[in-house]
Amino acid sequence: MVKNAKPAKSGTTAKPGKRAPAAKAAKRAVAAQAPAAPSVAQKDKTVTLTDNTTGKSYTYKVLDGTIGPQVIDIRSLYADTGMFTYDPGFTSTGSCESQITYIDGDAGVLLYRGYPIEDIVEKCDFVDTCYLLLNGELPTGEEKKKFNYDITHHSMVHEQLAQFYRGFRRDAHPMAVMCGVVGGLAAFYHDSTDITDARQRTVASYRLIAKMPTIAAWAYKYSVGQPFVYPTNSMQFAENFLHMLFAVPAERYDVSPVFAKAMDRILILHADHEQNASTSTVRLAGSSDANPFACIAAGIASLWGPAHGGANEAVLKMLAEIGDKKNIPEFIKSVKEKKAKLMGFGHRVYKNFDPRAKVMARTCREVLDELGRHDDPMLALAVELEKIALNDQYFIDRKLYPNVDFYSGIIFRAMGIPVSMFTPLFAVARTVGWVSQWNEMISDPGKRIGRPRQLYNGSVVRKIGGAKK
Ligand code: ACO
Repeated sequence: MVKNAKPAKSGTTAKPGKRAPAAKAAKRAVAAQAPAAPSVAQKDKTVTLTDNTTGKSYTYKVLDGTIGPQVIDIRSLYADTGMFTYDPGFTSTGSCESQITYIDGDAGVLLYRGYPIEDIVEKCDFVDTCYLLLNGELPTGEEKKKFNYDITHHSMVHEQLAQFYRGFRRDAHPMAVMCGVVGGLAAFYHDSTDITDARQRTVASYRLIAKMPTIAAWAYKYSVGQPFVYPTNSMQFAENFLHMLFAVPAERYDVSPVFAKAMDRILILHADHEQNASTSTVRLAGSSDANPFACIAAGIASLWGPAHGGANEAVLKMLAEIGDKKNIPEFIKSVKEKKAKLMGFGHRVYKNFDPRAKVMARTCREVLDELGRHDDPMLALAVELEKIALNDQYFIDRKLYPNVDFYSGIIFRAMGIPVSMFTPLFAVARTVGWVSQWNEMISDPGKRIGRPRQLYNGSVVRKIGGAKK
């Protein structure tokens, strides 16, 4: 719960009136004013809305978080006024309280449980990060040992689940396979689906975090017709994932420590991002008390889109289409004419550098150096494109900066990961964020089913004419 202010049970109406009919209500103009009586408002932190049609005013409490913008508690708005708010894309709507992740988009700040992402990337590994997101604190040495053991010992999947893969075409997109297989987990792990039991929620969370690399790696193995490689308990999380992706039974495969470190960092950077599209999807699906594995499958579906996690794949396609530095001006022109999008640029929340993109650009250089490919033409093209876009008025005016996906694709490609696996890697990393947010929601005694309203613009009531049968 928000600590600094008690949520208002209902808005207090300055002039109580009857509930207005919805059709009339939709036509009204409502002005959100600065508090009408500043002294009272400052003391009590309220906002007053005035319906300019009736002159009635309605006062709502303003809630403080620990940091970040305040929110107006409008939960009783419909009961008070007969009106809903209209906010497609939820650009001004807070859908929940959360203590997990904080973003200041204007300052380019990202905190996991209060720790800056740059700090976490330097001082922690992905397993620490998972523990932190799930539990709120970094683990002690003993806690980490136990957590690592628990995660490691949940990484195998039910052997029968392996049969699922054979039902897919070999050329299926791995995200399609992941939606199916992760949803299918619901059919296998019945002993962790009583969501009212905190212990079962923890087991379901561990299963999801631990099994996701296995499921993603197997989606890749299936697509290239290679045998599945089983998880190895002695390996670190990222190393094990790379091993399952690239090893074959015929020969020994040693994971490059530079690649393992880069993968670990990439997993940390993608682990959570507050109420983004896929996380909100998981929360909305889970708000009906749905099966946790099915909720995460819903998150995977949302992540797949090119406006979200699918952007890393789209960046590489875009760079391949541009092909050469000399074609950049033509491409930028088509972006400004709205014929194309500069993929990997722009963000709903960041109106400054995405702090993850900075770490990603550095990691990209490290990986390419390790491979002796610092003159990689794709990287050179991306760097030039970034430079041109950052100095172009179109992008400056709209505060469009590179996001996390601008460089991740180049790293993945250099590591030999096929383009279609980029978004599944994102899903592996984001699973801990999804389960942490899902857990937070389920543990909240004030949880209600998520159910947005709408502005209906369709036909008014009409009758079917004549006999149709
Ligand atoms: N290229 C060109 N123009 C852009 C871009 C872009 N990548 N992103 C936004 N714009 C323009 C829009 O056309 C709009 O211009 P206008 O004011 O002239 O109409 C303006 O910037 C504002 O953009 P919106 O679409 O309103 O921004 P919104 O917050 O709705 O969208 C989004 C954010 C979806 C991320 C968008 O920037 C985008 O599509 N980017 C490319 C895809 C991408 O990289 N997605 C990854 C996001 S990060 C993540 O999920 C991990």
